[in-house]
Amino acid sequence: MNALLSLRDVWVEYGDKIVLEKMNLELAAGSFLSIVGPSGAGKSSFLRVILGQEQPTRGTILLDGAPLAPECGPDRGVVFQRYSVFPHLSALDNTVFGLECAQAPVLARLFGAARRKASDEAAAMLGAVGLGDSLHLYPAQMSGGMQQRLAIAQALIKRPRILLLDEPFGALDPGIRADMHGLITQLWRDYALTVIMVTHDIKEAFTLGTRVLALDKRRHDPHAPHRYGATAVYDLPLRARPEPAAAALATA
Ligand SMILES: Nc1ncnc2c1ncn2[C@@H]1O[C@H](COP(=O)(O)OP(=O)(O)O)[C@@H](O)[C@H]1O
Ligand SMILES: [Mg+2]
Repeated sequence: MNALLSLRDVWVEYGDKIVLEKMNLELAAGSFLSIVGPSGAGKSSFLRVILGQEQPTRGTILLDGAPLAPECGPDRGVVFQRYSVFPHLSALDNTVFGLECAQAPVLARLFGAARRKASDEAAAMLGAVGLGDSLHLYPAQMSGGMQQRLAIAQALIKRPRILLLDEPFGALDPGIRADMHGLITQLWRDYALTVIMVTHDIKEAFTLGTRVLALDKRRHDPHAPHRYGATAVYDLPLRARPEPAAAALATA
């Protein structure tokens, strides 16, 4: 398999505490990988090393066969459970900011024609996540579901190849969560994304994912709880990903 993302014997340790050990993963482009596991298993740490926010203590991570750039590149976008948008910026400016970060990483400001173009792109992306009528609202004026739509727009505007979601719908009411499931499935197909989603909700993991990875400790030493880390204890392929050609047609 020609993997988009490869992890080879990746370990994550904080001081003498081993959080993740011997993680191996080959992820094909277009996959929707759901990650489940008990609280503290290292799911968020796993996303941070893929994002490049943290370096693994051992092992190799390859993106398209090349070592992962140490900083978060535009090829990876992330949405957290909450608080990933800026409260002092409108929906439009929050989304433009996503582009500014990608295109002007040092100053993070765009001016003139570049800014107008960014603004048009941001408005279109907000339309795609269902916030076309809310461009000028601030996060405090939006519901939890709307704020997560905004966080998704902010991540997607960089056109990442991999979208990382850390319990993105965990704080939402069940009805709203169902709407978000529809949205994320649609965006995954339309933008031919590879998605890695951490969730507490097993049903959500199986409904959305093409593959489910369960992280947990295989070994446990009651006298030294930090001695062993979690690893992939189950790796279940569920269904084929949509054909890339079909995904491309959907955006045409
Ligand atoms: N920066 C850090 N320094 C020290 N310990 C950390 C750090 N980040 C996470 N941990 C610890 O690593 C373990 C896994 O955390 P985390 O990845 O957040 O788990 P999960 O997302 O599965 O709940 C926890 O015990 C947590 O306390
Ligand atoms: Mg977590």
